[in-house]
Amino acid sequence: MLTESDKELIELAKEYRDRAYAPYSNFRVGAAVRTALGTVYGGCNIENSSYPMTNCAERTAIFKAVSEGEKEFAALAVVADTEGPCPPCGACRQVMSEFRIDRVIMANMKGDARIVTRGELLPFAFSDSDLT
Ligand code: THU
Repeated sequence: MLTESDKELIELAKEYRDRAYAPYSNFRVGAAVRTALGTVYGGCNIENSSYPMTNCAERTAIFKAVSEGEKEFAALAVVADTEGPCPPCGACRQVMSEFRIDRVIMANMKGDARIVTRGELLPFAFSDSDLT
């Protein structure tokens, strides 16, 4: 069930999708994160002629927030022009796991959306507790 703030986060993700730098794949992705205190940060995918240097939209949004000093997150939305709700890639799932983002809203341009938890996205995640 989408809340009003989930819907706002999807709309922000769509706005950031317009900023995607995706000349190689032409696959545009937007994301937005909401902090525990309600501040929002958006991001888009940023590709590179050296393909592996590409940064996904979700990580752009999370890294923007973290670099502004944020560490507590309430939700993240990701949107692309996919058939079903856009699933985050494995690397982004690991980063969402690091920052304990427990509400991930996968969405597409047709208005489909699905909310999943961190554990559903990345069961058996590697974490700080494995480093001890
Ligand atoms: N992409 C994202 O931005 N997020 C994902 O979770 C999946 C993939 C981007 C990376 C690349 O620029 C394009 O989509 C095609 O893989």
